[in-house]
Amino acid sequence: MKEKYYITTAIDYVNAPPHIGHALEKIQADVLARYARLKGMDVYFLTGTDEHGSKIARTAREAGAEVKKFAAQNSKTFKELKEILNLSWNQFIRTSDQKKHWPGVIKMWNALAAAGDLYKKTYRGLYCAGCEGFLTEKDLVDGLCPIHKKEPELVEEENYFFRLSAYGKQIKQAIQNKDIRVIPESREREILSLINTGLEDVSFSRSKEKLAWGIPVPGDDSQTMYVWADALTNYISAIGYGQSDVLMSRNFEKWWPADVHVVGKDILRFHAAIWPAMLLSAKLPLPRVLFVHGFVNAEGQKISKSLGNVIAPQDIVSAYGTDPFRYYFLREISPTEDGDFSQTRFLERYNADLANGLGNFTARVATLVSKRELKKDFKLMDLIVEQRIKTVQKNIDEAMRAFRFNDALAELWELISFGDGYLNEKQPWAKQAVDVDNALFSLSVLVTSIAVLLEPFLPKTAKKISDAISLKGKMVEVKEVPKLFPRLEQ
Ligand code: ME8
Ligand code: MG
Repeated sequence: MKEKYYITTAIDYVNAPPHIGHALEKIQADVLARYARLKGMDVYFLTGTDEHGSKIARTAREAGAEVKKFAAQNSKTFKELKEILNLSWNQFIRTSDQKKHWPGVIKMWNALAAAGDLYKKTYRGLYCAGCEGFLTEKDLVDGLCPIHKKEPELVEEENYFFRLSAYGKQIKQAIQNKDIRVIPESREREILSLINTGLEDVSFSRSKEKLAWGIPVPGDDSQTMYVWADALTNYISAIGYGQSDVLMSRNFEKWWPADVHVVGKDILRFHAAIWPAMLLSAKLPLPRVLFVHGFVNAEGQKISKSLGNVIAPQDIVSAYGTDPFRYYFLREISPTEDGDFSQTRFLERYNADLANGLGNFTARVATLVSKRELKKDFKLMDLIVEQRIKTVQKNIDEAMRAFRFNDALAELWELISFGDGYLNEKQPWAKQAVDVDNALFSLSVLVTSIAVLLEPFLPKTAKKISDAISLKGKMVEVKEVPKLFPRLEQ
Protein backbone atom coordinates (compact mmCIF):
# COMPACT_ATOMS: atom_id res chain seq x y z
CA MET A 1 0.00 0.00 0.00
CA LYS A 2 1.14 3.52 -0.80
CA GLU A 3 2.15 5.75 2.06
CA LYS A 4 -0.29 8.64 2.53
CA TYR A 5 0.78 12.27 2.54
CA TYR A 6 -1.66 14.96 3.58
CA ILE A 7 -0.45 18.51 3.03
CA THR A 8 -2.22 21.83 3.63
CA THR A 9 -1.54 25.54 3.19
CA ALA A 10 -2.89 28.42 5.23
CA ILE A 11 -6.28 29.49 3.92
CA ASP A 12 -6.08 33.09 2.77
CA TYR A 13 -8.20 36.01 3.93
CA VAL A 14 -10.43 37.31 1.18
CA ASN A 15 -10.17 40.98 2.08
CA ALA A 16 -8.10 41.49 -1.09
CA PRO A 17 -6.89 39.43 -4.07
CA PRO A 18 -3.67 37.38 -3.74
CA HIS A 19 -0.20 38.92 -3.76
CA ILE A 20 3.22 37.32 -4.24
CA GLY A 21 3.46 36.39 -0.54
CA HIS A 22 0.43 34.15 -0.91
CA ALA A 23 1.95 32.76 -4.09
CA LEU A 24 5.22 31.84 -2.35
CA GLU A 25 3.39 29.66 0.17
CA LYS A 26 1.23 27.91 -2.39
CA ILE A 27 4.22 27.19 -4.62
CA GLN A 28 6.21 25.76 -1.71
CA ALA A 29 3.34 23.48 -0.77
CA ASP A 30 2.87 22.48 -4.39
CA VAL A 31 6.51 21.42 -4.67
CA LEU A 32 6.18 19.27 -1.57
CA ALA A 33 2.99 17.69 -2.90
CA ARG A 34 4.46 17.00 -6.34
CA TYR A 35 7.67 15.66 -4.88
CA ALA A 36 5.73 13.26 -2.63
CA ARG A 37 3.80 12.04 -5.70
CA LEU A 38 7.05 11.56 -7.56
CA LYS A 39 8.20 9.39 -4.65
CA GLY A 40 5.12 7.24 -5.14
CA MET A 41 3.09 8.51 -2.20
CA ASP A 42 -0.67 8.84 -2.07
CA VAL A 43 -1.03 12.62 -1.78
CA TYR A 44 -3.87 14.87 -0.73
CA PHE A 45 -3.20 18.58 -1.05
CA LEU A 46 -5.64 21.09 0.47
CA THR A 47 -5.89 24.86 0.15
CA GLY A 48 -8.68 27.42 0.28
CA THR A 49 -9.96 30.71 1.66
CA ASP A 50 -10.72 32.06 5.12
CA GLU A 51 -13.81 34.18 4.65
CA HIS A 52 -15.27 35.16 8.00
CA GLY A 53 -14.25 37.61 10.71
CA SER A 54 -14.22 41.32 11.33
CA LYS A 55 -11.47 42.19 8.85
CA ILE A 56 -13.49 40.91 5.90
CA ALA A 57 -16.78 42.25 7.23
CA ARG A 58 -15.19 45.68 7.57
CA THR A 59 -13.42 45.70 4.18
CA ALA A 60 -16.63 44.69 2.43
CA ARG A 61 -18.54 47.42 4.25
CA GLU A 62 -15.91 50.00 3.24
CA ALA A 63 -16.18 48.83 -0.37
CA GLY A 64 -19.94 49.21 -0.16
CA ALA A 65 -20.34 45.54 -1.04
CA GLU A 66 -22.43 42.78 0.38
CA VAL A 67 -19.99 40.70 2.40
CA LYS A 68 -21.00 37.33 0.98
CA LYS A 69 -20.56 38.51 -2.60
CA PHE A 70 -17.37 40.35 -1.75
CA ALA A 71 -15.90 37.21 -0.18
CA ALA A 72 -16.96 35.07 -3.14
CA GLN A 73 -15.37 37.45 -5.64
CA ASN A 74 -12.03 37.52 -3.88
CA SER A 75 -12.11 33.82 -3.15
CA LYS A 76 -12.33 33.23 -6.88
CA THR A 77 -9.10 35.16 -7.45
CA PHE A 78 -7.32 32.80 -5.03
CA LYS A 79 -8.81 29.76 -6.68
CA GLU A 80 -7.52 31.02 -10.03
CA LEU A 81 -3.97 30.64 -8.76
CA LYS A 82 -4.37 26.97 -9.62
CA GLU A 83 -3.94 27.74 -13.34
CA ILE A 84 -1.74 30.80 -12.91
CA LEU A 85 0.82 29.01 -10.74
CA ASN A 86 0.06 25.46 -11.94
CA LEU A 87 -0.87 24.21 -8.47
CA SER A 88 -1.79 20.57 -8.03
CA TRP A 89 -4.14 20.87 -5.08
CA ASN A 90 -6.96 18.36 -4.71
CA GLN A 91 -9.44 20.58 -2.92
CA PHE A 92 -10.14 24.26 -2.42
CA ILE A 93 -12.15 24.73 0.77
CA ARG A 94 -14.10 27.89 1.57
CA THR A 95 -15.02 28.57 5.18
CA SER A 96 -18.32 30.09 4.01
CA ASP A 97 -19.27 26.68 2.64
CA GLN A 98 -22.11 25.60 4.91
CA LYS A 99 -22.15 22.03 3.59
CA LYS A 100 -18.46 21.15 3.48
CA HIS A 101 -17.01 23.26 6.27
CA TRP A 102 -19.59 24.19 8.87
CA PRO A 103 -20.54 20.69 10.12
CA GLY A 104 -16.90 20.01 11.03
CA VAL A 105 -16.62 23.32 12.88
CA ILE A 106 -19.80 22.65 14.82
CA LYS A 107 -18.60 19.18 15.71
CA MET A 108 -15.27 20.61 16.87
CA TRP A 109 -17.03 23.27 18.97
CA ASN A 110 -19.20 20.62 20.59
CA ALA A 111 -16.16 18.46 21.29
CA LEU A 112 -14.39 21.37 23.03
CA ALA A 113 -17.54 22.05 25.04
CA ALA A 114 -17.92 18.38 25.98
CA ALA A 115 -14.33 18.36 27.23
CA GLY A 116 -15.20 21.28 29.52
CA ASP A 117 -12.84 23.60 27.67
CA LEU A 118 -15.31 26.34 26.75
CA TYR A 119 -16.69 28.72 29.35
CA LYS A 120 -18.35 32.14 29.33
CA LYS A 121 -16.64 35.19 30.71
CA THR A 122 -17.08 38.94 30.60
CA TYR A 123 -13.95 40.37 29.29
CA ARG A 124 -12.10 43.51 28.17
CA GLY A 125 -9.33 43.25 25.65
CA LEU A 126 -7.49 44.88 22.76
CA TYR A 127 -8.36 43.41 19.39
CA CYS A 128 -6.38 43.87 16.18
CA ALA A 129 -8.59 43.15 13.18
CA GLY A 130 -5.51 42.85 10.96
CA CYS A 131 -4.28 39.93 13.08
CA GLU A 132 -7.80 38.80 13.91
CA GLY A 133 -6.36 38.37 17.36
CA PHE A 134 -6.25 39.85 20.83
CA LEU A 135 -3.14 41.70 21.91
CA THR A 136 -1.88 42.56 25.37
CA GLU A 137 -0.30 45.88 26.38
CA LYS A 138 3.06 44.08 26.20
CA ASP A 139 2.54 43.27 22.51
CA LEU A 140 2.05 46.91 21.52
CA VAL A 141 4.75 49.20 20.18
CA ASP A 142 3.92 52.88 20.75
CA GLY A 143 0.32 51.82 21.34
CA LEU A 144 0.12 50.14 17.92
CA CYS A 145 0.01 46.54 16.70
CA PRO A 146 3.64 45.91 15.65
CA ILE A 147 2.56 44.03 12.50
CA HIS A 148 -0.30 46.15 11.22
CA LYS A 149 0.82 49.50 12.72
CA LYS A 150 -2.75 50.18 13.78
CA GLU A 151 -4.28 50.97 17.12
CA PRO A 152 -6.22 47.94 18.34
CA GLU A 153 -9.88 48.38 19.28
CA LEU A 154 -11.05 47.94 22.83
CA VAL A 155 -13.49 45.05 23.01
CA GLU A 156 -15.66 44.57 26.05
CA GLU A 157 -18.29 41.86 26.02
CA GLU A 158 -19.31 38.46 27.26
CA ASN A 159 -17.60 35.73 25.19
CA TYR A 160 -16.91 32.06 25.21
CA PHE A 161 -13.36 31.30 26.20
CA PHE A 162 -11.24 28.33 25.21
CA ARG A 163 -9.09 26.82 27.95
CA LEU A 164 -5.79 27.10 26.09
CA SER A 165 -3.94 27.46 29.41
CA ALA A 166 -4.71 23.83 30.24
CA TYR A 167 -2.67 22.51 27.29
CA GLY A 168 0.66 24.33 27.50
CA LYS A 169 2.52 21.45 29.10
CA GLN A 170 1.23 18.83 26.69
CA ILE A 171 1.94 20.96 23.64
CA LYS A 172 5.42 21.77 24.86
CA GLN A 173 6.08 18.07 25.29
CA ALA A 174 4.70 17.23 21.87
CA ILE A 175 7.00 19.81 20.29
CA GLN A 176 10.05 18.77 22.30
CA ASN A 177 9.45 15.07 21.55
CA LYS A 178 9.08 15.96 17.86
CA ASP A 179 5.56 14.55 17.78
CA ILE A 180 4.98 17.90 16.14
CA ARG A 181 8.11 18.94 14.26
CA VAL A 182 8.29 22.71 13.92
CA ILE A 183 10.56 23.67 11.04
CA PRO A 184 12.87 25.62 11.10
CA GLU A 185 14.41 25.27 14.55
CA SER A 186 14.34 29.02 15.14
CA ARG A 187 10.54 28.87 14.97
CA GLU A 188 10.51 25.88 17.30
CA ARG A 189 12.51 27.91 19.83
CA GLU A 190 10.18 30.86 19.34
CA ILE A 191 7.05 28.85 20.11
CA LEU A 192 8.64 27.03 23.04
CA SER A 193 9.63 30.30 24.63
CA LEU A 194 6.11 31.63 24.10
CA ILE A 195 4.69 28.55 25.80
CA ASN A 196 7.17 29.02 28.64
CA THR A 197 5.85 32.51 29.32
CA GLY A 198 2.47 30.84 29.85
CA LEU A 199 -0.49 30.38 27.51
CA GLU A 200 -3.62 32.29 28.44
CA ASP A 201 -7.16 31.25 27.62
CA VAL A 202 -8.44 32.77 24.38
CA SER A 203 -11.73 34.39 23.54
CA PHE A 204 -13.40 32.01 21.10
CA SER A 205 -16.49 34.02 20.13
CA ARG A 206 -17.80 37.52 19.56
CA SER A 207 -21.24 38.90 20.21
CA LYS A 208 -23.36 38.52 17.11
CA GLU A 209 -24.44 42.12 17.53
CA LYS A 210 -20.84 43.26 16.94
CA LEU A 211 -19.97 40.61 14.37
CA ALA A 212 -22.59 38.64 12.52
CA TRP A 213 -20.36 37.42 9.65
CA GLY A 214 -19.29 33.98 10.79
CA ILE A 215 -20.51 30.66 12.10
CA PRO A 216 -23.10 30.89 14.91
CA VAL A 217 -22.13 29.23 18.17
CA PRO A 218 -24.17 26.01 18.49
CA GLY A 219 -26.92 26.49 21.03
CA ASP A 220 -26.23 30.20 21.50
CA ASP A 221 -27.46 32.33 18.67
CA SER A 222 -26.24 35.53 20.32
CA GLN A 223 -22.60 34.59 19.59
CA THR A 224 -20.49 34.19 16.47
CA MET A 225 -17.46 31.91 16.54
CA TYR A 226 -13.99 33.45 16.61
CA VAL A 227 -12.65 33.36 13.06
CA TRP A 228 -9.56 31.33 14.02
CA ALA A 229 -11.62 28.60 15.73
CA ASP A 230 -13.56 28.38 12.48
CA ALA A 231 -10.57 28.66 10.13
CA LEU A 232 -8.17 26.19 11.76
CA THR A 233 -10.84 23.52 11.62
CA ASN A 234 -10.71 23.62 7.79
CA TYR A 235 -7.84 21.15 7.94
CA ILE A 236 -10.21 18.46 9.19
CA SER A 237 -13.61 19.61 7.91
CA ALA A 238 -12.34 19.45 4.33
CA ILE A 239 -11.48 15.76 4.62
CA GLY A 240 -14.73 14.70 6.26
CA TYR A 241 -14.66 15.52 9.96
CA GLY A 242 -18.26 16.29 10.96
CA GLN A 243 -19.82 14.70 7.88
CA SER A 244 -22.43 12.06 8.64
CA ASP A 245 -21.65 10.24 5.39
CA VAL A 246 -19.74 6.98 6.04
CA LEU A 247 -17.39 7.40 3.09
CA MET A 248 -16.44 10.87 4.25
CA SER A 249 -15.70 9.79 7.79
CA ARG A 250 -13.52 6.99 6.39
CA ASN A 251 -11.80 9.65 4.33
CA PHE A 252 -11.04 11.54 7.51
CA GLU A 253 -9.60 8.40 9.12
CA LYS A 254 -7.46 7.85 6.05
CA TRP A 255 -5.87 11.30 5.81
CA TRP A 256 -5.72 12.75 9.31
CA PRO A 257 -3.27 13.69 10.88
CA ALA A 258 -1.77 16.15 8.43
CA ASP A 259 1.76 15.27 7.40
CA VAL A 260 2.60 18.93 6.80
CA HIS A 261 0.89 22.24 7.49
CA VAL A 262 2.62 24.97 5.47
CA VAL A 263 2.16 28.40 7.09
CA GLY A 264 3.81 31.81 7.33
CA LYS A 265 5.78 33.06 10.31
CA ASP A 266 3.06 35.49 11.45
CA ILE A 267 0.59 32.71 12.20
CA LEU A 268 2.94 30.39 14.05
CA ARG A 269 1.23 30.71 17.44
CA PHE A 270 -2.19 29.91 16.01
CA HIS A 271 -0.84 26.71 14.48
CA ALA A 272 1.64 25.65 17.15
CA ALA A 273 -0.45 26.52 20.21
CA ILE A 274 -4.18 27.06 19.61
CA TRP A 275 -4.60 24.36 16.95
CA PRO A 276 -2.80 21.57 18.84
CA ALA A 277 -4.77 22.53 21.97
CA MET A 278 -8.05 22.24 20.07
CA LEU A 279 -7.02 18.84 18.73
CA LEU A 280 -5.96 17.61 22.16
CA SER A 281 -9.22 18.82 23.65
CA ALA A 282 -11.21 17.09 20.89
CA LYS A 283 -9.04 13.96 21.35
CA LEU A 284 -7.72 14.00 17.83
CA PRO A 285 -4.15 13.23 16.67
CA LEU A 286 -1.69 16.11 16.26
CA PRO A 287 -0.22 17.18 12.92
CA ARG A 288 3.27 15.84 12.21
CA VAL A 289 5.08 18.82 10.76
CA LEU A 290 4.56 22.54 10.86
CA PHE A 291 6.64 24.10 8.13
CA VAL A 292 7.00 27.84 8.65
CA HIS A 293 8.13 30.08 5.80
CA GLY A 294 9.27 33.68 5.95
CA PHE A 295 7.89 36.81 4.32
CA VAL A 296 8.53 38.16 0.84
CA ASN A 297 9.09 41.84 0.33
CA ALA A 298 8.75 43.74 -2.93
CA GLU A 299 11.91 45.60 -3.99
CA GLY A 300 13.08 45.63 -0.37
CA GLN A 301 9.83 47.00 1.05
CA LYS A 302 7.14 45.30 3.06
CA ILE A 303 4.19 44.51 0.77
CA SER A 304 1.37 46.83 1.71
CA LYS A 305 -1.70 48.30 0.15
CA SER A 306 -0.92 51.73 1.53
CA LEU A 307 2.57 51.70 -0.01
CA GLY A 308 0.92 50.67 -3.26
CA ASN A 309 3.55 48.01 -3.95
CA VAL A 310 1.27 44.99 -4.09
CA ILE A 311 2.31 42.77 -7.00
CA ALA A 312 -0.31 40.41 -8.40
CA PRO A 313 1.17 37.00 -9.31
CA GLN A 314 -0.67 36.99 -12.64
CA ASP A 315 1.09 40.19 -13.74
CA ILE A 316 4.49 38.51 -13.60
CA VAL A 317 3.20 35.21 -14.90
CA SER A 318 1.53 36.74 -17.95
CA ALA A 319 4.74 38.56 -18.83
CA TYR A 320 7.26 35.75 -18.21
CA GLY A 321 5.38 32.49 -17.68
CA THR A 322 4.52 30.29 -14.74
CA ASP A 323 7.78 28.39 -14.46
CA PRO A 324 10.14 31.38 -14.29
CA PHE A 325 7.91 32.71 -11.52
CA ARG A 326 7.98 29.40 -9.63
CA TYR A 327 11.71 29.15 -10.19
CA TYR A 328 12.43 32.55 -8.70
CA PHE A 329 10.48 31.91 -5.51
CA LEU A 330 11.92 28.46 -5.00
CA ARG A 331 15.52 29.20 -5.89
CA GLU A 332 16.14 32.80 -4.89
CA ILE A 333 14.21 32.91 -1.63
CA SER A 334 15.41 30.91 1.34
CA PRO A 335 12.47 28.66 2.29
CA THR A 336 12.35 29.68 5.95
CA GLU A 337 13.66 33.22 5.87
CA ASP A 338 12.42 36.52 4.58
CA GLY A 339 13.17 37.18 0.94
CA ASP A 340 12.75 39.80 -1.70
CA PHE A 341 11.13 40.02 -5.09
CA SER A 342 13.20 42.27 -7.28
CA GLN A 343 12.63 42.78 -10.98
CA THR A 344 16.38 43.05 -11.67
CA ARG A 345 17.18 39.90 -9.75
CA PHE A 346 14.30 38.12 -11.46
CA LEU A 347 15.69 38.93 -14.91
CA GLU A 348 19.21 37.94 -13.83
CA ARG A 349 18.00 34.57 -12.59
CA TYR A 350 15.90 34.09 -15.69
CA ASN A 351 18.71 34.77 -18.15
CA ALA A 352 21.51 33.03 -16.28
CA ASP A 353 19.75 29.92 -14.98
CA LEU A 354 16.82 29.38 -17.31
CA ALA A 355 17.77 30.82 -20.72
CA ASN A 356 21.54 30.19 -20.64
CA GLY A 357 21.54 27.28 -18.22
CA LEU A 358 18.70 24.82 -18.61
CA GLY A 359 17.33 26.11 -21.93
CA ASN A 360 20.65 26.28 -23.71
CA PHE A 361 21.88 22.90 -22.48
CA THR A 362 18.77 20.96 -23.47
CA ALA A 363 18.72 22.65 -26.87
CA ARG A 364 22.39 21.82 -27.49
CA VAL A 365 21.91 18.16 -26.65
CA ALA A 366 18.69 17.87 -28.67
CA THR A 367 20.31 19.50 -31.70
CA LEU A 368 23.37 17.23 -31.63
CA VAL A 369 21.34 14.07 -31.14
CA SER A 370 18.83 14.96 -33.86
CA LYS A 371 21.65 15.54 -36.38
CA ARG A 372 23.14 12.13 -35.88
CA GLU A 373 21.75 8.74 -36.58
CA LEU A 374 22.74 6.98 -33.35
CA LYS A 375 23.87 3.44 -34.04
CA LYS A 376 21.94 0.82 -32.17
CA ASP A 377 23.54 -1.57 -29.69
CA PHE A 378 26.82 0.26 -29.37
CA LYS A 379 25.62 2.76 -26.87
CA LEU A 380 26.96 2.62 -23.36
CA MET A 381 26.08 4.81 -20.50
CA ASP A 382 29.15 6.68 -19.32
CA LEU A 383 29.70 5.72 -15.69
CA ILE A 384 30.73 9.24 -14.74
CA VAL A 385 27.40 10.58 -15.91
CA GLU A 386 25.45 7.77 -14.29
CA GLN A 387 27.19 8.31 -10.96
CA ARG A 388 26.61 12.02 -11.11
CA ILE A 389 22.87 11.59 -11.70
CA LYS A 390 22.62 9.21 -8.74
CA THR A 391 24.48 11.55 -6.43
CA VAL A 392 22.31 14.49 -7.39
CA GLN A 393 19.16 12.42 -6.90
CA LYS A 394 20.31 11.54 -3.41
CA ASN A 395 21.22 15.13 -2.60
CA ILE A 396 17.89 16.44 -3.85
CA ASP A 397 16.15 13.89 -1.70
CA GLU A 398 18.06 15.06 1.34
CA ALA A 399 17.36 18.71 0.58
CA MET A 400 13.65 18.03 0.11
CA ARG A 401 13.42 16.12 3.36
CA ALA A 402 14.89 19.19 5.04
CA PHE A 403 12.46 21.48 3.14
CA ARG A 404 15.44 23.15 1.39
CA PHE A 405 13.86 23.79 -2.01
CA ASN A 406 16.59 26.25 -2.97
CA ASP A 407 19.31 23.70 -2.24
CA ALA A 408 17.45 21.04 -4.20
CA LEU A 409 17.38 23.33 -7.22
CA ALA A 410 21.02 24.27 -6.75
CA GLU A 411 21.81 20.53 -6.97
CA LEU A 412 19.85 20.22 -10.15
CA TRP A 413 21.66 23.17 -11.68
CA GLU A 414 24.97 21.60 -10.68
CA LEU A 415 23.91 18.68 -12.82
CA ILE A 416 23.17 21.00 -15.72
CA SER A 417 26.57 22.63 -15.53
CA PHE A 418 28.19 19.22 -15.20
CA GLY A 419 26.36 18.28 -18.41
CA ASP A 420 27.60 21.42 -20.12
CA GLY A 421 31.16 20.64 -19.06
CA TYR A 422 30.86 17.04 -20.21
CA LEU A 423 29.56 18.16 -23.58
CA ASN A 424 32.40 20.65 -24.02
CA GLU A 425 34.93 18.02 -23.11
CA LYS A 426 33.55 15.32 -25.42
CA GLN A 427 33.02 17.73 -28.33
CA PRO A 428 30.77 15.29 -30.18
CA TRP A 429 30.56 17.78 -33.07
CA ALA A 430 34.32 17.64 -33.77
CA LYS A 431 35.77 15.57 -36.60
CA GLN A 432 38.31 13.83 -34.36
CA ALA A 433 35.76 13.10 -31.59
CA VAL A 434 35.67 9.54 -30.26
CA ASP A 435 32.87 7.64 -28.55
CA VAL A 436 30.34 10.05 -29.98
CA ASP A 437 27.38 7.68 -29.72
CA ASN A 438 28.11 6.86 -26.12
CA ALA A 439 28.54 10.51 -25.20
CA LEU A 440 25.32 11.55 -26.90
CA PHE A 441 23.45 8.65 -25.37
CA SER A 442 24.74 9.57 -21.91
CA LEU A 443 23.77 13.19 -22.46
CA SER A 444 20.28 12.14 -23.54
CA VAL A 445 19.90 10.10 -20.36
CA LEU A 446 21.12 13.12 -18.44
CA VAL A 447 18.56 15.42 -20.06
CA THR A 448 15.66 13.03 -19.46
CA SER A 449 16.77 12.57 -15.84
CA ILE A 450 16.83 16.32 -15.40
CA ALA A 451 13.26 16.47 -16.72
CA VAL A 452 12.11 13.91 -14.14
CA LEU A 453 13.83 15.67 -11.24
CA LEU A 454 12.60 19.05 -12.44
CA GLU A 455 8.92 18.10 -12.51
CA PRO A 456 7.95 19.09 -8.95
CA PHE A 457 9.55 22.50 -9.39
CA LEU A 458 8.88 23.46 -13.02
CA PRO A 459 6.20 21.02 -14.20
CA LYS A 460 5.49 22.62 -17.58
CA THR A 461 9.15 22.86 -18.53
CA ALA A 462 9.74 19.27 -17.45
CA LYS A 463 6.94 18.15 -19.73
CA LYS A 464 8.24 20.18 -22.67
CA ILE A 465 11.64 18.53 -22.28
CA SER A 466 10.31 14.99 -21.97
CA ASP A 467 7.94 15.55 -24.90
CA ALA A 468 10.86 16.70 -27.04
CA ILE A 469 13.49 14.15 -26.01
CA SER A 470 12.62 10.66 -24.91
CA LEU A 471 14.28 7.32 -24.45
CA LYS A 472 12.92 3.95 -25.43
CA GLY A 473 15.40 1.43 -24.14
CA LYS A 474 18.58 2.48 -25.88
CA MET A 475 16.77 4.44 -28.57
CA VAL A 476 16.78 8.20 -28.26
CA GLU A 477 13.97 10.02 -29.97
CA VAL A 478 14.21 13.74 -30.56
CA LYS A 479 10.89 15.14 -31.76
CA GLU A 480 12.08 18.72 -31.75
CA VAL A 481 14.61 21.01 -30.21
CA PRO A 482 12.82 22.41 -27.17
CA LYS A 483 12.62 26.22 -27.05
CA LEU A 484 12.19 26.85 -23.37
CA PHE A 485 13.21 30.33 -22.34
CA PRO A 486 13.88 33.14 -24.83
CA ARG A 487 16.54 35.50 -23.50
CA LEU A 488 15.17 38.70 -22.01
CA GLU A 489 16.61 42.20 -22.19
CA GLN A 490 17.44 43.65 -18.77
O1 ME8 B 1 -3.25 34.55 8.02
N1 ME8 B 1 5.17 36.79 2.36
O2 ME8 B 1 -4.48 34.75 6.08
P1 ME8 B 1 -3.57 35.77 5.26
C1 ME8 B 1 4.97 35.47 2.58
N2 ME8 B 1 -6.48 33.46 7.12
N3 ME8 B 1 3.84 34.97 3.08
C2 ME8 B 1 2.86 35.82 3.37
C3 ME8 B 1 2.97 37.20 3.16
C4 ME8 B 1 4.21 37.69 2.63
N4 ME8 B 1 4.44 38.96 2.39
N5 ME8 B 1 1.81 37.78 3.55
C5 ME8 B 1 1.01 36.79 3.98
C6 ME8 B 1 -4.24 34.31 7.35
N6 ME8 B 1 1.63 35.61 3.88
C7 ME8 B 1 -5.30 33.37 7.88
C8 ME8 B 1 -4.75 31.95 7.89
S1 ME8 B 1 -5.00 29.31 8.35
C9 ME8 B 1 -6.10 28.34 9.17
C10 ME8 B 1 -5.70 30.93 8.42
C11 ME8 B 1 1.13 34.28 4.27
O3 ME8 B 1 -4.28 35.95 3.97
C12 ME8 B 1 0.72 34.23 5.73
O4 ME8 B 1 1.83 34.05 6.55
O5 ME8 B 1 -3.25 36.97 6.07
C13 ME8 B 1 -0.22 33.04 5.72
O6 ME8 B 1 0.48 31.83 5.87
C14 ME8 B 1 -0.86 33.12 4.33
O7 ME8 B 1 -0.03 33.98 3.55
C15 ME8 B 1 -2.26 33.70 4.39
O8 ME8 B 1 -2.21 34.97 5.02
MG1 MG C 1 -2.09 38.12 7.25
